[in-house]
Amino acid sequence: MVVLGFIPMTYFKWILFACFVCSSLVLTTQDQLCDPNDLLALKEFARNLAVTSWSNDSICCQWDLVVCDDHSEISVTSRVIMLKPPKKGLKLKVLDLSHNNLSGPVAGVLSGLKMIRSLNVSSNSFTGDLSELGEFPNLAVFNISNNSFTGSRIPNVFGNLTNLEILIASSNSFAGQLPSSLALCSKLHVLELRNNSLTGQTDLNFTGLPGLCTLELGSNRFAGPLPNFLSDCRILEVLGLGGNNLTGRIPESFTKLRSIFFLSLSSNSFVDLPRALSVLQQCKNLTTVLIPMNFIGEKIPEKMSGLRA
Ligand SMILES: *[C@@H]1O[C@H](CO)[C@@H](O)[C@H](O)[C@H]1NC(C)=O
Ligand SMILES: *[C@@H]1O[C@H](CO)[C@@H](O)[C@H](O)[C@H]1NC(C)=O
Ligand SMILES: *[C@@H]1O[C@H](CO)[C@@H](O)[C@H](O)[C@H]1NC(C)=O
Ligand SMILES: *[C@@H]1O[C@H](CO)[C@@H](O)[C@H](O)[C@H]1NC(C)=O
Ligand SMILES: *[C@@H]1O[C@H](CO)[C@@H](O)[C@H](O)[C@H]1NC(C)=O
Ligand SMILES: *[C@@H]1O[C@H](CO)[C@@H](O)[C@H](O)[C@H]1NC(C)=O
Ligand SMILES: *[C@@H]1O[C@H](CO)[C@@H](O)[C@H](O)[C@H]1NC(C)=O
Ligand SMILES: *[C@@H]1O[C@H](CO)[C@@H](O)[C@H](O)[C@H]1NC(C)=O
Ligand SMILES: *[C@@H]1O[C@H](CO)[C@@H](O)[C@H](O)[C@H]1NC(C)=O
Ligand SMILES: *[C@@H]1O[C@H](CO)[C@@H](O)[C@H](O)[C@H]1NC(C)=O
Repeated sequence: MVVLGFIPMTYFKWILFACFVCSSLVLTTQDQLCDPNDLLALKEFARNLAVTSWSNDSICCQWDLVVCDDHSEISVTSRVIMLKPPKKGLKLKVLDLSHNNLSGPVAGVLSGLKMIRSLNVSSNSFTGDLSELGEFPNLAVFNISNNSFTGSRIPNVFGNLTNLEILIASSNSFAGQLPSSLALCSKLHVLELRNNSLTGQTDLNFTGLPGLCTLELGSNRFAGPLPNFLSDCRILEVLGLGGNNLTGRIPESFTKLRSIFFLSLSSNSFVDLPRALSVLQQCKNLTTVLIPMNFIGEKIPEKMSGLRA
């Protein structure tokens, strides 16, 4: 496996940015020398990457992935203007393009990366609707947080992603309900969809997610009661549901969440504070509970024995 986390941002910003805006460019000077600075950047990029065709410096514009511009009359060299995965695809397993000021549809990055296992494109300005995601069955880590993804719903394409362990799509503009097929990702460990505009209930079939450890759905527009079957996630440690429109009581079944240590329920419309406290007291590992802006008009019960700070 290779990690490309060290890509120098300054070069990479424009190298990949171009990829999404001029994919129909006609190229005529692929046999040119490429700019020496670009050559250095590419070599750094490829340091741990087994792209064997990236060896002959004098023809770097012909390397797999590399696309050069039409070199100007004055200049002898061509600038590298995009990196484009070849049709036959790369066997890349890990790609970290986070914090690179990249934009355009994420499909432009995904195409040609059928074997990808871990893709982190967080903190860019990528767009798209994730409808092709089902075609990447090896995907285990997918971090698209802090981008410009929109969509009236997250497409229900997770049935094929049986290897998915970490899905982080916080701070985008996704709307609509939780896609039910997420419950088919039986290896799911971390699900973070914070700070979107998601609606409906949080009632995934959690029975299918026994390995879920972090569930962060805060700052959305979820409504309805807490899902009963959440207690089937026996190793759940972090549960963030603050800043939604959730209602009702804390279910008795939450006493089964033996591993939970962080719980945020703030800014919802829960009721029955005494019962909430008596349930949560039985979650012995809880160190942080955030429940302000709930239980409107209720009094703190006098007997709070056993509640630890
Ligand atoms: C590099 O490519 C040039 C141009 O095609 C060729 O003349 C040269 O022999 C190649 N060098 C190696 C080491 O393959
Ligand atoms: C990010 O890219 C945009 C063009 O998409 C550019 O205008 C802006 O200056 C870039 N920001 C940084 C910090 O490089
Ligand atoms: C991007 O994702 C990879 C894989 O999960 C991770 O190792 C890396 O730290 C992430 N980068 C950032 C900036 O979070
Ligand atoms: C996902 O991206 C966010 C924002 O860049 C970062 O804080 C977080 O550590 C990343 N997590 C993983 C597992 O890649
Ligand atoms: C989100 O991305 C923007 C650039 O698009 C960046 O300036 C900001 O620091 C990122 N926020 C986090 C929390 O990583
Ligand atoms: C699941 O994979 C099959 C076979 O590769 C494909 O035909 C189907 O469209 C995929 N389903 C989704 C929802 O992407
Ligand atoms: C929420 O997401 C938006 C982008 O959709 C971002 O601008 C904002 O900083 C995020 N807020 C927090 C608290 O992460
Ligand atoms: C929920 O998931 C479990 C385990 O994957 C499955 O046995 C059960 O039939 C599912 N329930 C519903 C209502 O789909
Ligand atoms: C909560 O629900 C009420 C009534 O349905 C609605 O007016 C309000 O905007 C909702 N709040 C959020 C944060 O979605
Ligand atoms: C509770 O926390 C302790 C210390 O972090 C840990 O060793 C223990 O395994 C946790 N218990 C459960 C049931 O997760």
